[in-house]
Amino acid sequence: MARVLIATEKPFSADAVAGVQKVLDEAGYDVEVLAKYPDRSVLLKAVENADALIIRSDIIDREVLDAASNLKIVVRAGAGYDNVDLEAATEKGVVVMNTPGQNSNAVAELAFGMMVYQNRNRLTPSTGRELRGCRLGIHAYGYVGRIVGMIGKGFGMRVYAYDPYIDRIIIENDGVKCEQRAEDMYRKCEYISLHIPANTETRGSINYDLLSRMPAGATLVNTARKEVIDEAGLLKIFAERDDFRYLTDVAPDCAAGLEENYPDRYFATPKKMGAQTAEANKNAGVAAARQIVGFLEKGDTTFKVN
Ligand code: 3PG
Repeated sequence: MARVLIATEKPFSADAVAGVQKVLDEAGYDVEVLAKYPDRSVLLKAVENADALIIRSDIIDREVLDAASNLKIVVRAGAGYDNVDLEAATEKGVVVMNTPGQNSNAVAELAFGMMVYQNRNRLTPSTGRELRGCRLGIHAYGYVGRIVGMIGKGFGMRVYAYDPYIDRIIIENDGVKCEQRAEDMYRKCEYISLHIPANTETRGSINYDLLSRMPAGATLVNTARKEVIDEAGLLKIFAERDDFRYLTDVAPDCAAGLEENYPDRYFATPKKMGAQTAEANKNAGVAAARQIVGFLEKGDTTFKVN
């Protein structure tokens, strides 16, 4: 009987766990839930007999893979898989998948939640600002970026997108202006929403050069990854411009300095929570469970990323 470990330091909702359990029970699998585990040693022990693993942002590095000698598949219930050592997994013959699109709406809604919260002076009654009529630049037009575009249009924003991997026609069919160069989009848009993954190409790529092009009232919104920001550049722009604002769901390493020096222009959620809705948990968790069953029963490798 296959043994599936659901190892989520950041727990799924109870409803999502029940949904995952149902899919795996129906397949006749044995399920263990390891939520909110106190430290890595607990994870290392729990993976020992697992054939399959469902995770979120949990770090699956070589040490974890070495400890999991029966492991055949890891499914990251979510989009970004920068937390999994793909090279080590491939060496060990372990298939890695993600569940693209399943938590995107939650992340997109949070991006606007932060924009409105900041624009309304963090829900205090002093005079705030509106999004309508402002220009919104979407950096990477994947599942989340697309929904951000739709919501932005609902707010009456003028929406732009930059994504060198997506055909211009796809972007423009959505009524979004396609920019060929990131620089041009940053120059036009008061609001930039980041939806790029963290990889060798993107780490540190949101730098001073890009940010300094943004017009007056510049607001950078990050629901992606902290690693894509060049923090020295971010600190420089904060020091130079008193209109620059940074709203993030992924606190930077330099968070303490920003909190101390620019408390009105810097906002970070207490813990990454973009995908933390009942709906996203269930969609991503159940999709992960189904992908495991599909792989173990039929060898289906759709959504394999290694
Ligand atoms: C993702 O990559 O899917 C999001 O960043 C959500 O991550 P989480 O599952 O850790 O909340």
